[in-house]
Parts: sequence; C-alpha cells; structure tokens
Amino acid sequence: MERSEVVARDKRHVWHPYTAMDAYIAGTDPLVVVEAEGPYLWDADGTRYLDANGSWWVSTLGHRHPRLVRALVEQAGRFPHTSLAGVTHAPAARLAEELAALSPGGQLPRVFYSDNGSTAVEVAIKMAAQYWAQNGRPGRTRFITLSGAFHGETIGATSVGGVEVFRDVFGPLLFDVVHVPSPAEPAGWERAFAQVEATLRAHPDEIAAVIVEPLIQGAAGMHLYAPAFLRAVREATREVDTFLIADEVFTGLGRTGARFACDLAGVVPDLLCLAKALSGGLLPFAATLATERVFAGFGGGPERALYYGHSYCGNPLGAAVAREVLAVYRDEDVLGQVARKAPRVKAAFEHMAQTIPGVTRPRALGMVGAVDLGTGGYLARAGWRVYEAARRRGLYLRPLGDTVYIAPALNIPDAALEELLAGVEASLGEVALGAG
Ligand SMILES: Cc1ncc(COP(=O)(O)O)c(C=O)c1O
Repeated sequence: MERSEVVARDKRHVWHPYTAMDAYIAGTDPLVVVEAEGPYLWDADGTRYLDANGSWWVSTLGHRHPRLVRALVEQAGRFPHTSLAGVTHAPAARLAEELAALSPGGQLPRVFYSDNGSTAVEVAIKMAAQYWAQNGRPGRTRFITLSGAFHGETIGATSVGGVEVFRDVFGPLLFDVVHVPSPAEPAGWERAFAQVEATLRAHPDEIAAVIVEPLIQGAAGMHLYAPAFLRAVREATREVDTFLIADEVFTGLGRTGARFACDLAGVVPDLLCLAKALSGGLLPFAATLATERVFAGFGGGPERALYYGHSYCGNPLGAAVAREVLAVYRDEDVLGQVARKAPRVKAAFEHMAQTIPGVTRPRALGMVGAVDLGTGGYLARAGWRVYEAARRRGLYLRPLGDTVYIAPALNIPDAALEELLAGVEASLGEVALGAG
C-alpha cells in the first residue's frame, strides 16, 4: 500500500492517543513506519529516524532485538496463550522467580501479572486498599500522591495522577486522594515531604499508601528529585505502618542507571509496578511485585482473595520475552552500558543550556536527558517546533510540551548517541534562534 493511502485510511479511521485530532487530520504528516531496528525507525518514504524515546519508553534494548524476536517466535510455536486461572506455565513461573530475585533487597517475592503500566498501577492500588480492608484498618482508603505524578490511563491510575490537564476533565469520576507538592519543585523536596509526613501523622487511619514515581516524574516533563525524599517517605510510611508504592513503569530496568530507581535511593517499597521495558517493546506485558507481608494479607478464605485478572495476564509470549529481556540485560551488561553513557548525556544537555539562549533547566539521570524551552507546560508549543526541526534532521523527538528530552534505547551504540545529541542540540538551536 502506498504511503499516502496508509495516511488517508489512518486519518479517516484511527483515533490517536494524546492527540488533538482536528489539527492532526488537517495538518500532520505522520511518520509511516515500515521497519525498525536498533535505535532506528524507517518511514515508507525511505527516511531513517533515530528514535529518541524508544517508542514511548518501551524499546530499551532497541527495536527488533534478535534474541527477543527469537524468544517470541519460539514461544508462539509452542503455545501462544493460556489463562493463569488454575493454570501455570514455565515462562510465567520462571519469570516470577527471576523478578523476585532482582527486586529491591530481594524483598518483593510475589508477582502479579497484568498488561501495561496503567494496570500494574491499578493492581497495586487495589492490593493496598483490599489489604487494609481485610486486615484491621478498613478506614485506610485514601492515597497520597505527588503533584505532577503520572501513573497511567485507567480511572484508578488517573485518580492518583497529578498532571492537571490529564485529570481535570474526569474530576467528578476520580476517587479522593491527597495531593502534596512535587518534590522536584525548585524549592526542594523538603516541602513535599513535610506535607507527606504531616498527612500521615494526622490521618494514620486513612492512608492506604503513598504512591510515587521514584526519582523522575516522567510524563510531567522529566522532573528529577532527590533520593533523600524517597528515603524520608519510606521512613515516614514505616512509622505509621502504611504502604509505599513505587511506580517504576518508566524508571525500572536500568533507565536511571540502576536496575530500579528504588535501588539508587536504597529504598524497598511494599509494591513495585513494572511494564514498558519489561517486554522490550515487543508486546504489552506488566507485573506488580509485592512483599510477602502484602501477599499474606490475602490468605484465608475465598472472600479474601484478590478478584482481579486480565484475559492476557501473565501470557506466555510476554513472559518468554520478558525472561529474554532480563537475560539480554545480563549478557550485554546493559547497566554497565548506561553507567558509561550517562555522563555523556548529562554533559550534552548541560552544554545545550549553556550555549543556546532560552534553553533552561538542564537535567539528566541515567539515559534520560532534558531541557525546557519555556514554562508553558504540557500544552505549550515550543517543544513541537523542536520536534519539527528534529524531524527534518532524521530524529523522532516527541516532546512533553515545552520540555525536550531523550529516553532512548539503553544499548544505543555510541555513534548513534552522538548523532542523537548533536541532532537535539541543532534542532533546539534552530528553534531558539528563531529560524524554526
Ligand atoms: C510512571 C508511569 N506509570 C504508568 C504509566 C502507564 O503505562 P501504560 O502506558 O503502559 O499504561 C506510564 C506511562 O507513561 C508511566 O510513565
């Protein structure tokens, strides 16, 4: 099918995510991807694009990693699907064992599978709420969450979100949460922590859990905050004996330089959400890891079970691929690769802010680098002008409003990383100097 025919059909029928559709239909010439390999995507017109965000943060091992493709095909040839209802299989069982061993401190040995980041969070919310409902603290139904938090798309995940433009319209449908300031605010993390601590102390019988994106508030604009905040929150939740949920859907599996961002902070949460990188960009797959204590809270009669489960949860294809993802991380020393490349990412973004007028707030952690071009937030357009300039240079650099960032494959070859950083700098320069 011709490129133009794909676009025509798309514009007649496909409703795109996070997209103002009128503008898209009227003016956007989308990438029409026909092939992908490593850090690159190919358009039907033959143009090669460097994928600056690993296709929404999933392809941490690059596109079409041959070992992942092989694992998928081999599993599909045996049995592609079975439910996990009274059934199990080696990929799910072995993956759970491996995740348990890798979990922070090895202390989250119970693994509940679902489909994506939002469901991994939804599971954690329900586990926390049900745990307290049936273990002597039924009043614990509220969650503390951070302004600027993003935890996904379902109503539960939206309820604990803190990006106003994503949640305000659903306001009447969302459950009540306690929002505290973002620990990433320039004033420092202490103000956010003071409110977490005060809320926990004032309402110890109401708070089911504190939920955080550890160290990076991704979708809000790659806002970094201090590990000390995470440690302080862990301490405060322990004091009143309530849960800490770490949503590592973005940060997990090496993005920050450690296996989990929680590891960087030396924190062991009660529940940990994983998706995206877990299946390396091959198919949707997620897991919520829980401590033995949380798991034990569901023991006893059938009325105490967790009545939750998606049709495809723990599916053999995803589990087989996820096992191979973990094996590739080991065999290719992916964390070592991040440690080597992270200083280069940091230096490049600092250099951009030093040399390009109007480019501010350089920040980097692991393989994430970001700067701002304005202060307009998610609906601002400056980042999109950089997107257009980058596209002309063969980069796919989708922004978060005014924030221009990279979160590429962790195993991106050095030459491609240099090409990416140079392209970001040139595109920012073009727009900041008024030519874009
Ligand atoms: C921290 C975090 N949690 C949850 C999600 C939702 O994941 P998904 O899009 O797979 O539902 C995201 C998505 O970006 C995320 O960044």
